[in-house]
Amino acid sequence: MSFTLKVNGRAHTVDVPEDTPLLYVLRDELGLNGAKYGCGVGQCGACTVLSNGTSLRSCVVPAARLGGRELTTLEGLRAPDGAPHPLQKAFLAEQAGQCAYCIPGMLMAAAALLREKPRPSEAEIRTALDANLCRCGSHNRIVRAIQRAAAELAK
Ligand code: FES
Repeated sequence: MSFTLKVNGRAHTVDVPEDTPLLYVLRDELGLNGAKYGCGVGQCGACTVLSNGTSLRSCVVPAARLGGRELTTLEGLRAPDGAPHPLQKAFLAEQAGQCAYCIPGMLMAAAALLREKPRPSEAEIRTALDANLCRCGSHNRIVRAIQRAAAELAK
């Protein structure tokens, strides 16, 4: 099935079986490897991307259903001039990643949160990221990083 996806501001025409998950299209067809394959069943959040600014588990949604949406992957989080997003800087500053496999999904979920709620409370951050799993136990650093980014963005 051939269709067009808009990813990170660019239109891409892809031709894949109709039930192909977005994650596979991003990684295998478009070479965008920011979103990670963790569980493959919508449970871990490693594959999180943004669809019209809200977080989406790309492993469980067929790409063919997403024509017309503005999709953003980790690669699209940077500014047009290549500068890292304040969330990326804050995650580095707080040393939020250990193995870092979850971090792309955490960043995208955090971006969706800050878009909706620019100054979230700690409890709101924890709730928003509750379904993004980190097996290293970096949650406290991740929460601090999101608070740091929110403060930076508020300046
Ligand atoms: Fe998609 Fe785990 S890989 S939620």
